[in-house]
Amino acid sequence: MHIAVLKEFQQSERRVAQTPETVARLVKAGVRVVVERECGIAAGLDDAEWLAAGATVAASAEEAVTGAGVVLCVQPPKEEVLAKLARGTLLISFLPSASREAVAAKGIDALAMEKVPRTTRGQAVDALSSQATVAGYQSVLLGAGRLPRLLPMMTTAAGTLKPGRVLVLGAGVAGLQAIATAHRLGAQVHAFDVRAAVKEQVQSLGAKFVDIEGVQSAEGAGGYAKEVGQDEQARILATLGKAVPLADLVICTAQIPNRPAPRLVTAAMVAAMRRGSVIVDLAAETGGNCELTRLGEEVVTANGVLVLGPKNLAATMPLHASMMFGKNVLTLLLLCLKDGAVSLDLKDELIAAMLVTHAGAVRHP
Ligand code: NAI
Repeated sequence: MHIAVLKEFQQSERRVAQTPETVARLVKAGVRVVVERECGIAAGLDDAEWLAAGATVAASAEEAVTGAGVVLCVQPPKEEVLAKLARGTLLISFLPSASREAVAAKGIDALAMEKVPRTTRGQAVDALSSQATVAGYQSVLLGAGRLPRLLPMMTTAAGTLKPGRVLVLGAGVAGLQAIATAHRLGAQVHAFDVRAAVKEQVQSLGAKFVDIEGVQSAEGAGGYAKEVGQDEQARILATLGKAVPLADLVICTAQIPNRPAPRLVTAAMVAAMRRGSVIVDLAAETGGNCELTRLGEEVVTANGVLVLGPKNLAATMPLHASMMFGKNVLTLLLLCLKDGAVSLDLKDELIAAMLVTHAGAVRHP
């Protein structure tokens, strides 16, 4: 048995599920690794690096998976490749619910990276966090690069420039990283979240927390946020109605598991922003926090505000995103290997939570 690492087939997916560093660790542990040719090229990794790490390079995905006991990728493999996998093969990747039925029907055991429990033990395999870290950082660079002004304060012979103002909505993993990045760039940063517990974290990163009177902490199961009531939503919108127009850059990251993203920035708020201001909506994939966001598109409003709804932002910083994703996958994989073969311990809390297909059926852990 060997472990196959596939090249992602979607053009916009530039990450790879392992790196030469993680492959070297597998090889050292006595596992044979076969990587598909040019699987790391979009992340800046040459085939020579996989060879130096002790892997074999296969000419195609089909060749890489032939005889594989484990298949590793970022997004689920294409249908033709899935068809080549033997029953009982272990697949580790992101695996949206819509793809699980087809995977189960082929008798493949799949561990879905997005199902990681947000527990202390889950941290080392938490690809949601590692990729949100990259996306949060990148969102600020993306927005800053489209602003007509600098973010830091500058005192120069040509005059003094005031610092730019950044408002971050949602201070989970991506939001906190956006705050830290905007702060490093010298902006004045304000942030809001419905979970009161994050106020201290926001302040420790040098940002001001937007307090809203009459809004109780909306913390639900597993530390995630839950939806707020109508009265609280009205209070939030009233306060953000004043805060949003003051910002040069708004970074939206607010999400609620299995629900559409909360609406926090209305068209009226955008209409009150200064010409040239920018909104980067990381919640675009679940409907957006801003009313004007269009997934994967750039919208320019009549008053000259740019609204970006980027898709899969982590894939646009593919080397470091892959390094972290690869480590997350390696840690999970090592839990699944015993004496060089796959052995799934369904009593292990991580495996139990992440195993979404098993023995020909979709599981609902
Ligand atoms: P997420 O992506 O689900 O949501 C992002 C942020 O949006 C959250 O902070 C949430 O409170 C906020 N939000 C939701 N509705 C909002 C609204 N109406 N207005 C303003 N903000 C709103 O969150 P993420 O980043 O995945 O983190 C979720 C939780 O998991 C957090 O409590 C985090 O601390 C926890 N966590 C735990 C880990 C561990 O212990 N292994 C690792 C990573 C996260």
